[in-house]
Amino acid sequence: LNVQNYIFSQDSVLLSGYLSTLEGSGSYLEIGVGGGGNFSIVDRRGKFDIVVGTDILPLSTLRTEVRQSSELIVADRASCFRAETFDFVAFNPPYVPSNEILDVTTDGGLGGMEVPIDFLESALSVLKPEGKIVLVLSSEDSLDVLKRFCEREKLVLSNIAETRIFFEILTLYSITRRKN
Ligand SMILES: C[S@@+](CC[C@H](N)C(=O)[O-])C[C@H]1O[C@@H](n2cnc3c(N)ncnc32)[C@H](O)[C@@H]1O
Repeated sequence: LNVQNYIFSQDSVLLSGYLSTLEGSGSYLEIGVGGGGNFSIVDRRGKFDIVVGTDILPLSTLRTEVRQSSELIVADRASCFRAETFDFVAFNPPYVPSNEILDVTTDGGLGGMEVPIDFLESALSVLKPEGKIVLVLSSEDSLDVLKRFCEREKLVLSNIAETRIFFEILTLYSITRRKN
């Protein structure tokens, strides 16, 4: 297992732009906080009553802006929470297509989608009925897997923002449950 924390990258930046202006209330979870750069943006803005983050790696290289009192938990995705706990769940998961998971900070499994779908299933299991999920994926990923998953699970998938890095496009998606 790789135990180096993820270096804040283009996918982190795409998510951070959105989180810096996010108006919300209630409870917020970030899955896979890494160094905590995005977590601390939401934590410090104080729009949510409860802000919690998880990572599977020890939270040993947290950035200096992460407060000592912050609610960070070493856990597998959102597995430590009860159903219908969060109003909002955000993540930029490991999404690089790979045959195996050798680096847990970057490797997304086959088509880059195995780990992101695992994150999404876990996020859905703790999301309130009216809650929202945001996640970042790449044009290098098998995005049809995400689209099919959302259709099957009766989820509304929307494209919120994107950024281009050479030939790759990173997209920030939102997911909510269909109303009927
Ligand atoms: C692409 S990195 C993003 C890190 C951070 N959000 C950032 O932007 O700097 C993905 C993160 O997910 C974490 N991760 C991987 N598998 C996980 C799991 N099963 N449960 C929780 N976190 C996990 C990794 O350790 C890594 O910190």
